[in-house]
Amino acid sequence: MNLVQLRKKNDPIVRNAEKDVDDEGFSPMNPPDPYRPPGSNQAIPYAEMHPLLREYRDDHDALTVEIDAFEAMLTKIKADGVQRETETALSRFFRCLDESLFPHNRREERRLFPLLAQRLVERGECNKTSPPTTAVDLLEDEHDEFLQLAALVFNFFGMASRLRDAESRSLVLATAVQQAEVLVESLRLHIFREDQIVFSLAQKYLSAAELDAIHAMDASHARDGHASDDHDHDHGHRPGHDHGHKHDDHVEA
Ligand SMILES: [Fe+2]
Repeated sequence: MNLVQLRKKNDPIVRNAEKDVDDEGFSPMNPPDPYRPPGSNQAIPYAEMHPLLREYRDDHDALTVEIDAFEAMLTKIKADGVQRETETALSRFFRCLDESLFPHNRREERRLFPLLAQRLVERGECNKTSPPTTAVDLLEDEHDEFLQLAALVFNFFGMASRLRDAESRSLVLATAVQQAEVLVESLRLHIFREDQIVFSLAQKYLSAAELDAIHAMDASHARDGHASDDHDHDHGHRPGHDHGHKHDDHVEA
C-alpha cells in the first residue's frame, strides 16, 4: 500500500463520497476514484476564481512543470542511473520544493485554511469527530507528508551517491526512485484536490471581502520580507518541522 492508498483510508473527501454510496453508485468494491470524487464536476473555473485563489493555482501550474520534469528524470535514472545532468535536475527539483512549494503551503496554512476550516465546520461539511475534521486537515497532513517524504527521497539519493558497493548503491537508488514516484503521485493528487475541490469551496464559502483581506495580508507579508522567514526558519510550515536537508546540499553522482 503506498502513501496515497494509505491516505485514502482516512480521507474526508473520499469518506464524504462513501457516505453517499446509494446516491452515487459506489460500494466498498467500487470505491470512488480520488480524481473524480462526487462534486468535482462542480469545480469553479479558474477565470471565475478570486485573484488570491488564481495565484495559488498559478503556483500549482508552475510546480506541475517541475514535477513533470522530475518524473521524466526518474525514468531516465531507471534506464541509465544517475548522470551529471540528472544530478543537476535533482538539485533543481529539491530547490524548487524549498523555495516555492513549502513557502506556498505556508501561505495557504496561515490564513486561508483556518477560515475555510471554520466555514466547513459551520456548514456541517466535516467528520463528526471531536474536534471535527475537514478536508483542510487532510491537506495540512499532506503538507507534512511532503516535508517528510522529500527529506527521505533527498537523503536516499544522497546516500546512493556515497555508496561504493555497486549492489548497495543500486538498491538504495531504486528505493529513492520508488519513494520519489510516491512523492510525485501524492503531489499531483494534492494539487488536483486544491485546484478542483478545496479552492472551489473557498470561493463559495468565503466572501470577496474575506478573500481580498487574505490577499492583501499575503502581499504585505511578502513585501515585509517574511516570505524569506518562512524559507529560512520553517520551510513553509509550522515551527519544529524539519525536512532534513540544507538548501546548499546537492546530490553527487
Ligand atoms: Fe497549494
